[in-house]
Amino acid sequence: MLEIEEISNPTPWKEQTFKNILSSRTLSFVIISGQNVIGFCIASKVADECHLQNISVTASFRKQGIGKYILDTLIKRCALYELQNIILEVRESNEGAQEFYRKNNFNPIGKRKDYYKLGEQRESAVLMSLILS
Ligand SMILES: CC(C)(COP(=O)(O)OP(=O)(O)OC[C@H]1O[C@@H](n2cnc3c(N)ncnc32)[C@H](O)[C@@H]1OP(=O)(O)O)[C@@H](O)C(=O)NCCC(=O)NCCS
Repeated sequence: MLEIEEISNPTPWKEQTFKNILSSRTLSFVIISGQNVIGFCIASKVADECHLQNISVTASFRKQGIGKYILDTLIKRCALYELQNIILEVRESNEGAQEFYRKNNFNPIGKRKDYYKLGEQRESAVLMSLILS
């Protein structure tokens, strides 16, 4: 997971960040091919919502439907808890991920100004949501 994160995120999460989140109640999971983790989903249950905090597929496995499979699996997990919606933040500059979420029926619902670090600067987040029925 750390290797995937390193190539996927301009400010990669540290090992301790993963440990902190995964030690609490979580909807998170990994995708394995052979012996290797090739993707992961980090998501938490917050009241009746799912907060999708991180999703990533290793570079050589992208554009093969694994990201969609991860979202579909997360949606099934949310249904078990009768969660009402999934919310997420995505970097404003990450147009590929925004397109990925739009293709998977998420809608932009707002912005969080200066949400992310980007080197010495800050970058805003687009807030997106999927209503679960
Ligand atoms: C975003 C990410 C998880 C998508 O995973 P994936 O396995 O490539 O996604 P899928 O193959 O299921 O893509 C489904 C559709 O989403 C769209 N899509 C996916 N990645 C896209 C991109 N980079 N640019 C534009 N559209 C994209 C495409 O329409 C794609 O369908 P197509 O392959 O028929 O064109 C992956 O690109 C990734 O790990 N990125 C780096 C980490 C990241 O940015 N995570 C999001 C943080 S909020």
